[in-house]
Amino acid sequence: MLPPTLRSIIAEEVPGAIAFRRDLHMHPEIGYEEKRTADRIRGALDEAGVAHRGGLAGGTGTLASLPGDATHAVALRADIDALPITEAGCPAWKSTIPGRMHACGHDGHTAILVATARSLARYARHSTLPRPVTFVFQPAEEGGAGGRRMCEDGCLDGTVIGPRVERIYGLHGWTTLPLGTVATKPGPLFACSDRFEIVIHGEGSHAAFPQRSRDPVLAAAQVILALQSIVSRNVDPLDSAVVSATVVRAGDVMNVIPPTATIQGTARALLPDVRDLVEKRFGDVTRAAAAVHGCTADAQYIRGYPVTSNDPNEAARFDRLAKETLGEERVRTMDRPVMGGEDFSYYAERVPACFFALGLIPHGATSMPSLHHPAFDFNDDAIVTGVEMMCALALSA
Ligand code: NI
Repeated sequence: MLPPTLRSIIAEEVPGAIAFRRDLHMHPEIGYEEKRTADRIRGALDEAGVAHRGGLAGGTGTLASLPGDATHAVALRADIDALPITEAGCPAWKSTIPGRMHACGHDGHTAILVATARSLARYARHSTLPRPVTFVFQPAEEGGAGGRRMCEDGCLDGTVIGPRVERIYGLHGWTTLPLGTVATKPGPLFACSDRFEIVIHGEGSHAAFPQRSRDPVLAAAQVILALQSIVSRNVDPLDSAVVSATVVRAGDVMNVIPPTATIQGTARALLPDVRDLVEKRFGDVTRAAAAVHGCTADAQYIRGYPVTSNDPNEAARFDRLAKETLGEERVRTMDRPVMGGEDFSYYAERVPACFFALGLIPHGATSMPSLHHPAFDFNDDAIVTGVEMMCALALSA
């Protein structure tokens, strides 16, 4: 249960958190450019007397710490970056920067973590926290692997600020869950997100004399079709994987067979074995399918974010605390993982972790714009639930 004094401190902090969120929304910054955002975070922490160190993960990461009784810390993490999207909605706090917007709600995540730090700092003036709390404000979740760089810079090791981190929690606003609810599951929650790049080398010719060519366009078509056999014929039907060719480029003249063609795409899986299998078959299938048409293929498979997997004990702790803090009826179980990626995985690889979903669908509505949609806007009414859960996790012995 959250102490009543902390609950009322949180209620007092929420209006400021909403104003903070809207200010970030008006001034979005993409991965590793979050200079103003980091300044605002440090300013809000300074006001509440929370110690911090900036300049991490390439410059825009911040680590903050509150002291507590135990030798190891509990960590709470927020991602702070925006996306290269032009906002289509028109809230009063609409993005002021064309081509930049908080379309994934990281403005909300940041506001929640800042309000959590401020609330716990105020609470700690009268009560000792059961363990030290580390606050991780990381840049570049959207493809930049800011989480990996925070870990490499020692944010969990006790070398930057505060003691070594023993476990970590994070959240994401969820556009298919109603406001006021939270959800998670033990085990895999998000897929790994890998990418691939293929260059097919053939021989160009006049398009009217294909017999003089080794056509990389035909080979590319064969490769794209063959790649779809990995999921349908190699992966166990009861496991999950995705192979999507998303960028295809070849030639620029109607009557010329070009010498090369390129394909890019993404691959996802929920289990390490399946990931290994997809990577191996990707190379074999690509080279063989290109060879059918006399072409060669440079097939590069580039591993991205690992699978985000919740520690079963930490997922159980979250479930228990959420039911105590919010009431049974506001806690859902996520029955399935999703094939999106999350760089929270880098923390979860190093210490026991739990990542949870925070409901955003407004009361009276049944849906809302999805994450990365140009009309998405984080629901400010979800901030209080996020702060309450983060505080409950921080206070759990
Ligand atoms: Ni996101």
